[in-house]
Amino acid sequence: MTRIICSAPGKVILFGEHAVVYGHPALATVTDQRTYVQVDSGAQRNTVNGHRMHDHHHRYLMTAVERCWMGGPVDIQTDGGVPSASGTGSSAALTVAAVSALAAHEGIYDYATIAQRSFFVERSAQGGGSPTDTSVSTAGGAIAIAGHGETLGLGPKLWSPTFHEPDQEDLRWNVERVSIAPMTVVIGNSGVRGRTSEEVAKVARAMQRNAMVRDTLQQLGDISRDAVPYLRSGDLVEVGHLMDQAHRALHTIGVNHPAVQGLVDAVRDLPGTFGAKMTGAGGGGSILCLTEQPERAMNAIREAGGIPFAVEVGGQGARLEDPELTVVEGSHAPKLR
Ligand code: MEV
Repeated sequence: MTRIICSAPGKVILFGEHAVVYGHPALATVTDQRTYVQVDSGAQRNTVNGHRMHDHHHRYLMTAVERCWMGGPVDIQTDGGVPSASGTGSSAALTVAAVSALAAHEGIYDYATIAQRSFFVERSAQGGGSPTDTSVSTAGGAIAIAGHGETLGLGPKLWSPTFHEPDQEDLRWNVERVSIAPMTVVIGNSGVRGRTSEEVAKVARAMQRNAMVRDTLQQLGDISRDAVPYLRSGDLVEVGHLMDQAHRALHTIGVNHPAVQGLVDAVRDLPGTFGAKMTGAGGGGSILCLTEQPERAMNAIREAGGIPFAVEVGGQGARLEDPELTVVEGSHAPKLR
């Protein structure tokens, strides 16, 4: 039996969610929340946290094992530090950590392979979407991403994840590293579970019917492009304006939720707030608030019924952990056995 433990971070999409599914640019960065996955090879049967692996309960893990693993049964233990269905990248973190551990069992540990395989797993399990979440969780730091073979030229190119859809041209995105100034962001989780696959499908339907939705997706991509110089230089006032603009555009395409809007309203006019927007797929999930007074924003989110947390963005991506990782109880510490 060989044991490998990998971890991968959650993410926030700064700009361009949904637009990126259609090839427009997006910018994303990682949070300091991490999910840990331990994979033991040589098991009797595939298990997850002591239960038989099941396609309903373990969709991402099962897809990873079925599509990216040639060895025998595996025993998987997970410790998810990223809240699920909150728009902060829990399924990407789980997928990237699992794919990393499976790849490491094969002696492979290169980020381009992990990013490609993780995108393949997430998209297969989810039935749609872009490689944004899996790529940023793999790469760490911050990334810019665009589709249709577009190179943004914002930083060094990292990789080009692709996906083959039957009877269609292969889908392909380019991922680049972007540098952003240090920022304090406050996340407010509405507690309403947002389902990425449903929100992506909803936008796809709206796009078919409504030219305004198509224009707004284009506008969201333009906002991503506009934001890069301000993120680089740390011009938080301008970044905040663009966040407000992006939030309105996301509302227009129909992915906002009253509980999420309530949190945006609670922080928007507070002293110290530069801007606020929903982040991720929407339909619930979380807001992102850029502020110089995090405590104030966190209190306002709490009073409005949300769950706040301040996060450091731009940290490490996927990581191979010491297999001797000890059991430590604590909020960010892994509790694997
Ligand atoms: C979800 O975090 C971001 C979306 O743009 C979907 C995707 O890019 O896969 C809504």
